[in-house]
Amino acid sequence: MGNDSARPALAQAAPDLSPYDVVFVGFPIWWYVEPRIVDTFLEACDLGGKAVVPFATSGSSGIHRAASRVRDIVPQARVLDGRMMNDRPSTSELEAWIRGLGL
Ligand SMILES: Cc1cc2nc3c(=O)[nH]c(=O)nc-3n(C[C@H](O)[C@H](O)[C@H](O)COP(=O)(O)O)c2cc1C
Repeated sequence: MGNDSARPALAQAAPDLSPYDVVFVGFPIWWYVEPRIVDTFLEACDLGGKAVVPFATSGSSGIHRAASRVRDIVPQARVLDGRMMNDRPSTSELEAWIRGLGL
């Protein structure tokens, strides 16, 4: 919905992610995908060679379309399928999920 190429400005400079190999990126699903401000963030970060793990909340939509868009936006990163958080996973469920990512 709306303008896919809109890129609202970030309120602060993007963080230096150089110490990290894995970046978890969380957002609410808006119109089936990540909000455009998340696209601004992804493009502003140097994610080359990193694993990017999307996670999201929604009314009911899944994460597939968002993960696919994120892949298009940062082709230099390895974007995993990610996980919806609507089931309010416990800490142990999250730990099991993260261990299972094979990072
Ligand atoms: C502009 C807008 C678009 C949304 N589009 C969707 C959608 O396509 N599918 C869906 O399941 N939920 C949609 N939602 C619901 C949000 O995903 C949900 O409110 C959000 O994940 C809850 O997190 P929050 O409390 O941080 O807003 C939308 C919400 C807003 C405000």
